[in-house]
Amino acid sequence: MPFENENTYVRMVEAGKEDEFHRKYEEALKEVESYFHKEYPNIIKEDIVESKKIKDISPIDGSEIATFQLASDESVNKAVDMLYRSYKNWYNIGYMKRALTFLKAAGMLSDQKFKFAAILTYENGKNRYEAIGDVDEAIDFMRYYAINLIENQGFIKLTGKAYKNEESMSVMKPYGVFGVISPFNFFSIGVGMSSGPLVTGNAVILKPSSDIPLSLYLWVRLMHDAGVPKEVLAYVSGSGSVVGKHIVENKKVAGIVFTGSREVGLDIQRRSIDNGPKVVITEMGGKDAIIVSNKADLNKAVEGVARAAFGFAGQKCSACSLLYVHKDVYDEFMKRLKERTDQIKPDDPRKKETFLNPVINKEAYEKFIKLKPEYNKGKILTGGHELKRPGFYVEPTIVTDLPKDAYIARNEIFLPVLSVFKCNSIQEAIEDINSMDYGLTGGIFTEDPNEIQYYFDNVEVGVLYANRKSGGSTGSMVGSQPFVGWKLSGVSGKGTGSFYYLMQFLREQSQTIAH
Ligand code: NAD
Ligand code: ALA
Repeated sequence: MPFENENTYVRMVEAGKEDEFHRKYEEALKEVESYFHKEYPNIIKEDIVESKKIKDISPIDGSEIATFQLASDESVNKAVDMLYRSYKNWYNIGYMKRALTFLKAAGMLSDQKFKFAAILTYENGKNRYEAIGDVDEAIDFMRYYAINLIENQGFIKLTGKAYKNEESMSVMKPYGVFGVISPFNFFSIGVGMSSGPLVTGNAVILKPSSDIPLSLYLWVRLMHDAGVPKEVLAYVSGSGSVVGKHIVENKKVAGIVFTGSREVGLDIQRRSIDNGPKVVITEMGGKDAIIVSNKADLNKAVEGVARAAFGFAGQKCSACSLLYVHKDVYDEFMKRLKERTDQIKPDDPRKKETFLNPVINKEAYEKFIKLKPEYNKGKILTGGHELKRPGFYVEPTIVTDLPKDAYIARNEIFLPVLSVFKCNSIQEAIEDINSMDYGLTGGIFTEDPNEIQYYFDNVEVGVLYANRKSGGSTGSMVGSQPFVGWKLSGVSGKGTGSFYYLMQFLREQSQTIAH
């Protein structure tokens, strides 16, 4: 069964339908207002209203989108008990039916993709191109994992004959209940992390980031409408330190799938040991670097770096926040990068021409301000200011001449701030990259194939790109570019959107019948 990426914008432009793309998205921006200013329940088979609430706030202007529940410990326990009782029935309907349910649901999401994209613009701040890309990626995860399950015949295989009178099989079976704890920056990550365990026959309790509860709430509703039993997919919203923590500490939860910051990921690992045994998949942060060689095509490199550093306001785990430029091309490259960056103005992401959206929330905006003394440890080439208007807008910022161990150059800060170093060679830059304990994505710009090969052979990072003008170090596609962190960027060693991903949600059972 062939897998094809959804890739809406590119396909519509290629088909001469760019106007239709904009029309559909703009209609959806109006349509989704009907979802706002409401209160949404948790979904534990029934709709559950709690005594405590959280607010979904739009980064566009700081306004309130909707009210969600803060799940009580009792609700989490109730959900886990229900899921634990139900997952075997879901597994036992067989892999084909589960996969077909997912393919149906993926089709339903595809039909509603502009609606979901518009909601993401409001609650996540993504411009239309990033928002539709995020929904496309969610559709891709659902389809890819379903097809992967079918192609592997549910991971059930006849094994060798130990004795003449015996038949044996290896059957990969679910663990039970997975807690899925997702980050704010991608709707598709919440969808993908839920789809892996679910399609393989586990049950899932999903806790989205409090910054994007609506899009994942509507996805859970869609999954139920597509035929995933309510008994195997529960939705609970609320803060990580209360609700997320409680999911991790529930001993009936057999596994945690988490994507988010390093600090929280490591805390989840520690708590999982105390409340295990648990399968724990923690995809964590990055300090992603791009190298510009003296053999680079500088036009390509300028565009690739600007897109990687400032796309979605530097809030992609794959965003480039560290740049090494070869001394021979440093002055020329930096001049051009500054000119390109000065064209990027943060603005309302609903506008067609907006590239740089607001940062996710007040905390992120205040972090940008609080870090100013750190930018001043180097030279601010451009940017460095916040905008004084409703919403959370900050300038794209480039800082050069920093000390090697500067805080902003060594830690993920998740803002549109790029730290730049001049380097003497590719080797020197790679050594510096490898000296960090992050290892998520990276890129190189060079026209020399030997340098590309040297980079691929030596850099200790999970996702690598050479000469990617469209995204530098960002924009992995499901089925083509497995997304995986090395070192403290992720401990599983298996990429999302790759053929190894599903195996993490399955445990082997050996079955033998003697005649
Ligand atoms: P975060 O760590 O603040 O939150 C992630 C999730 O964990 C949220 O749902 C949050 O509510 C929950 N949480 C918070 N504290 C918790 C606790 N004590 N116990 C259990 N759950 C808890 O991350 P974020 O700000 O939402 O997302 C940005 C981070 O995610 C960045 O570090 C980014 O690099 C990382 N990320 C990594 C990847 C990857 O594939 N490696 C992909 C996307 C994002
Ligand atoms: N798929 C996202 C990217 O590659 C995380 O930027």
